[in-house]
This record gives sequence, structure tokens and C-alpha cells, in this order.
Amino acid sequence: MVRGPRKTDSQMVTCYSGFVFSIGFVVGVFLALMSSKVQDYPARTKRVDRYVSTDDFYGLWLEKQGVTSRKKLDIDRDAYDPNYDHSSNLESTLLFWKVKVACAVFSGNIQNSYAVASSWGEKCNSIRFYNDKADSYLMSTGIAAQPSTWEFLCLVILDLLANVPAQWYVFAKDDVYVIPENLRYIVAHKNSSKPFYLGRNAFFWGTLFNTGKTAYVLSRGAVELIARKFNSSTACKKSSKYSKNEDYLMGKHLTELGVTAEDTRDEEGRERFHVFSPSQLLAPGHEGIFKKYFSTGIHPTVKGQRGFSPTSVSFQGIQRDYIFLYDYLLYHVKVFNHNGGYGNNLSRTYHQSDEVWKSFVSESLGPAYNVSNVSSSDYYRLWELWHPPEEFARKLRAEFLNKTGER
Ligand SMILES: *[C@@H]1O[C@H](CO)[C@@H](O)[C@H](O)[C@H]1NC(C)=O
Ligand SMILES: *[C@@H]1O[C@H](CO)[C@@H](O)[C@H](O)[C@H]1NC(C)=O
Ligand SMILES: *[C@@H]1O[C@H](CO)[C@@H](O)[C@H](O)[C@H]1NC(C)=O
Ligand SMILES: *[C@@H]1O[C@H](CO)[C@@H](O)[C@H](O)[C@H]1NC(C)=O
Ligand SMILES: *[C@@H]1O[C@H](CO)[C@@H](O)[C@H](O)[C@H]1NC(C)=O
Ligand SMILES: *[C@@H]1O[C@H](CO)[C@@H](O)[C@H](O)[C@H]1NC(C)=O
Repeated sequence: MVRGPRKTDSQMVTCYSGFVFSIGFVVGVFLALMSSKVQDYPARTKRVDRYVSTDDFYGLWLEKQGVTSRKKLDIDRDAYDPNYDHSSNLESTLLFWKVKVACAVFSGNIQNSYAVASSWGEKCNSIRFYNDKADSYLMSTGIAAQPSTWEFLCLVILDLLANVPAQWYVFAKDDVYVIPENLRYIVAHKNSSKPFYLGRNAFFWGTLFNTGKTAYVLSRGAVELIARKFNSSTACKKSSKYSKNEDYLMGKHLTELGVTAEDTRDEEGRERFHVFSPSQLLAPGHEGIFKKYFSTGIHPTVKGQRGFSPTSVSFQGIQRDYIFLYDYLLYHVKVFNHNGGYGNNLSRTYHQSDEVWKSFVSESLGPAYNVSNVSSSDYYRLWELWHPPEEFARKLRAEFLNKTGER
């Protein structure tokens, strides 16, 4: 008798506080929109579906850039229709100029690094490879091997701050595939002067951090904060008590500076920073490696397409060949969204096949020869018999010029 109502009370309280939270959030967002100052959504909510989606923020940001109309690119017409209007700009181009992304790549395998340099690395506004010894092709920055990976990272941060101006900094090993366009899309509305820390959330020793297995991202504001705390190579050296886990230490130091690793999943809870390769995530099997990761990962890894956000930013575990493959699939394959009609039109250089061989015959026998006297069956019979083309032309001359005598 007593338990019943109590339970109801507590449920009501839960509902009520949830309600207040929602209103506060909605009002907060509403006010933010009214003053056209786009604030960032709270870093962590229990529900993943947010009241304002990344796309809403992005839409507002576009408006602020003076983008008045958007239309979907008709890939079919863009590729094949000579009358298609190419004057409008792609959003990816706008984003490239407005949201400056610098990529810091930790070079482990030189072949992978070369692949990165000629694939996704080109999509960064600037890229810098770091290695323990400089490579002339990559123009990598040599930082002598440090006993501690944190010290190495700390020196990289100092180098970036001094030499590479950007709004956002991507940190990735060379077995990671990054899609900078999608990163720009999710951060465009954020003020990069403020500290932001994005990536795949993990938890270790009571600290929320972004794992270095896949790429993680710092805003200029966050890089400055770190560099203020560790403002010299001596400070970097002094701060490195542990030899490994520089990603965890980054999280620890940023947490101490009041910066929390943000939940980067999309509204449907799909990850954007992946600690596995697409094939590991999509194909059956691989349970062993998943299990190993689950111990530190915060959100469950969902296998199959439901686990991917369409605005995914990075994948891990990609070797050289696959880096090229993904580059090809993402940037060069044309996928037609409707029937692909224009792609199936005859090309402008198309000729009837008998026009082709007749012009060849005419070339071989001279313009005076009446080509109508050579039938297509004659032609193909001879083509089969006489190869290569020079031999063919000679025989053709012998057969038809001698037979007809016409010149
Ligand atoms: C971005 O943040 C910085 C630092 O907080 C601030 O000074 C600046 O006014 C902000 N810019 C915009 C456009 O809100
Ligand atoms: C580095 O920071 C320390 C305090 O954290 C300060 O005493 C020192 O002057 C700073 N050095 C430089 C070069 O800014
Ligand atoms: C090309 O294909 C489109 C769509 O199927 C069609 O509307 C158009 O008339 C075609 N153009 C030519 C020159 O065949
Ligand atoms: C070529 O030959 C065809 C029939 O074999 C004939 O109809 C045509 O008039 C000829 N053309 C010329 C230019 O002699
Ligand atoms: C071309 O062929 C026609 C019939 O096939 C023939 O009557 C004519 O004489 C030929 N012309 C020459 C120049 O051989
Ligand atoms: C056929 O023509 C070639 C040159 O085109 C000539 O050398 C050859 O003697 C001719 N043969 C006959 C049988 O007329």
C-alpha cells in the first residue's frame, strides 16, 4: 500500500526534472538562435536525439555565410550533360575555404604515409607528417624519438601552434582514413577559438578521453590551452611520467583544463570516429578485436550499417592499398542517384561502326576509291585474316586496288 504511491512520486519527480531540463535546453537553444549566436549543444545528454541537429546548426551557419539557396548536385548531369550549369559552388569548396583544417599525421609506416599524402591528406588545408626522422618526400618534421609518446605529442603541439595556422587540428596515425569534408560539416558552426576536443570517446582510470586509435580533433582554442600549460620542450619533457598512452594523457590534461571530450555521435547514435575499418564493421566475424576494444570504449560498437554515421570522419586500421581504394570510392566513382540517363547517352564522339572501318578503308585505298564497293563482311573477313593494321592496310590495297583498278 505504501510502496505504490511512493513509486509514483519518485516517477513523477523523475519526469518533472526531465521536463525542466528539456525546457531549459529548448529555451537556451531558442535564445541562442534569436541572437543568431550559435552555441554548441551540451556535450553529453542521455538521449542521443538532440533537439537541434548538427544539420540545423549547419544550416544556420550557412545562412550566416550568405548562402541563400542550396540544391542537390545532379551527379549524372554534372558529369555528362554539356548544358548543365556548373557555375554554382560545391558546399565542400565553401567549407574548405571557411573551415581551415590542419592534419598532423604520425608516420609509422612510410608506405602508408605516402598513401595518405596522395589521398585524404590533400583534402586538409595543410598537412604535416611527424616522424622520428624527417622524410624528404613527405617533407615530414623530424622529432627525435622521445622516451615518452606524450612528450612527442607535446612537441608536435608546440610545432603546430608555431608553424601551422588553422582553426581545427586533426591528429591521426597513418593507418587512419579521414574524411575532412565531414569534419568541416560537423564543426563549421563551432567557434574554434574556444576549446573543443572531438573524437571517439573512451574511458580509462576515471578519465574520459578520445582514443588515439582513430583520429581525434582539437580546436585552435584547445591547442592553445595545452601549449599554454606546456609552453616549452622542457615543460613537455617534465610532464611525461608515462611512456605510453599519450591519447589518455591528452584527455587527462584537457579535463584538468576544463575541456571535456565531446560526444561526437550523430542524432541517431551512430558513431563518426571509428576504431575499426569499414570491412571489420560490416563483414561478419572480427568479434575478438571488438571484445578487446569494448573494455575502454564508452558507447557500444554497433556492427553493420547502423553503426556508421553518414557523416563519419575517420576509420582506423586502413593499410596502404585500402587508403587508395577508399579515395577512389569516395571521390572518383560516380554513383547516379536516379536512372543515370545522361551517362547512358551516346557520347559525342560516337560513330557508327561502319563509318569507322570505311574511313580506315578510305585512308588505305585513297580518297578516289569508292568505298561502297567494300562490304562490311569483306572488311571483317580480311580483318580476321590480316593482322596487324599495317599488314591489313597493305593487303587491302593489294586486294581492292588490283581487283577494281579504280584510282
Ligand atoms: C569566439 O570565441 C572567442 C573566445 O571565446 C571570442 O572572443 C569571439 O568573439 C568568438 N567569436 C564569435 C564569432 O562568436
Ligand atoms: C611557461 O609557463 C610558466 C608557468 O607555467 C611560466 O613561468 C613561463 O614564463 C612560461 N614560459 C614561456 C616561454 O612563456
Ligand atoms: C540524354 O539523356 C537525357 C536523360 O535520359 C535525355 O533527356 C536527353 O535527351 C539525352 N540527350 C541526348 C543528346 O541524347
Ligand atoms: C559508289 O558505288 C555505289 C554502288 O556500288 C554507287 O551507288 C555510287 O554512286 C558510287 N559513288 C561514286 C562516288 O562513284
Ligand atoms: C562496285 O560494285 C558494283 C556492284 O557491287 C559493280 O557493279 C561495280 O562495277 C563496282 N565498281 C567498281 C569500280 O569496281
Ligand atoms: C597490285 O598492286 C600493287 C601496288 O598496289 C602492284 O605492286 C602489283 O604489281 C599489283 N598486282 C597486280 C596483279 O596487278
